[in-house]
Amino acid sequence: MLKNINLKNFTTFGVSAEAAHFATFSSEEEARKLTYNNTEELLILGGGSNLLLTKNFNGLVLKNEIKGISAEEKNENSIVLKVGAGEVWHEFVLYTIEQGYYGIENMSLIPGSVGASPMQNIGAYGVEIKDVFEKLEALEIQTGEIHTFSKEACAFGYRESVFKRALKGKYIITQVYFRLSLQEKTSTHYGAIESELSKQGISNPTCKDVSNAVIAIRTSKLPNPKELGNAGSFFKNPVVSIDIYNKIQEKYKDAPSYPIDEKSVKVPAGWLIETAGWKGKKIGACGVHKNQALVLVNYGGATGNEIYNLSSEIIEDIDRKFGITLEREVNIL
Ligand code: FAD
Ligand code: EPU
Repeated sequence: MLKNINLKNFTTFGVSAEAAHFATFSSEEEARKLTYNNTEELLILGGGSNLLLTKNFNGLVLKNEIKGISAEEKNENSIVLKVGAGEVWHEFVLYTIEQGYYGIENMSLIPGSVGASPMQNIGAYGVEIKDVFEKLEALEIQTGEIHTFSKEACAFGYRESVFKRALKGKYIITQVYFRLSLQEKTSTHYGAIESELSKQGISNPTCKDVSNAVIAIRTSKLPNPKELGNAGSFFKNPVVSIDIYNKIQEKYKDAPSYPIDEKSVKVPAGWLIETAGWKGKKIGACGVHKNQALVLVNYGGATGNEIYNLSSEIIEDIDRKFGITLEREVNIL
């Protein structure tokens, strides 16, 4: 076990924060040993791409490095893959594409680990992990037992799961099982995928074509954490009542929205933040990204607190201007 480790290179925001203790585990057994009789506060770390550290962590950081991909079950339509939680998500996506398995190509280039993917039910371009999720295994920290969670037990929602709510801090996700399709069926209706494919002259896309299109779109607007510290969307897109949306439309008749049900719509937080004048704003060493207002960035040397304070200012401003309270998507520590 290591002591007094700077976590700067362990999160994509790249802010400095010290961990009192730090260890890695590459099997369930190692995780069990490290947590057995542990009395310190625990932080389970994957790729650190959805985490903002605002202070030193006076506890034990455990970095998940459980690897391995194996086929568990196959029929003529689908295959179930068991994936170690410490596998890198995008590398796993590329592996499935190479094999010709369909289902997660729209989620190409999302940073982070496979084990964190169920935490917030990651999603992009019209597909969420719940659409391909079979089950997961997780170590209950208190008892050291491995429990299996079905899709229903995970209580997935938009950027939500039971592990962010009722079971927060109680489990280490160790293995995730995905059911992928052997049928060549893609989903290209969302966002700019179709226009990107037609720009490339592709009319019958394979999963690899869709993956390439998604990568091209993402690269054009999202900052690469290796070059500019960030954690993707800092806030969730809010679901608001039709009344609130109608009020916004009185002033901004082209305000974008996506239908949810008869009474509510989802309004892109990026639009709210841009319209409020924050896009591209730099405050000290942090700011709001110039191409994507939903992404807060660390230009180098920002503290976690500075980024957090910027997010609080944005929340207050959006509340004042639109009567909508944004919720942070990023985990704050
Ligand atoms: P971490 O940041 O390491 O951890 C996140 C949380 O999960 C923490 O609370 C941590 O304690 C907990 N955790 C991690 N692993 C485990 C485990 N094995 N068991 C229990 N708890 C665990 N997200 C999307 O949904 N869609 C996107 O399109 C998207 N785009 C992004 C683009 C960029 C440029 C960046 C930087 C981030 C983006 N994200 C996106 C957010 C992020 O990539 C995902 O949330 C990802 O799943 C986080 O994985 P991680 O391994 O880095 O998690
Ligand atoms: N918009 C603006 N200005 C901006 C950014 C966005 O007006 O600066 C408006 C536009 O109307 C645009 C709309 O917002 O059409 C949607 O923007 P975009 O397609 O970039 O998606 P997003 O809603 O900002 C969400 C996810 C992303 C995911 C993309 C693609 C959330 C919180 N974010 O972003 O996930 O990759 O859709 O599916 O739901 C993440 O969770 O970290 C993340 C990056």
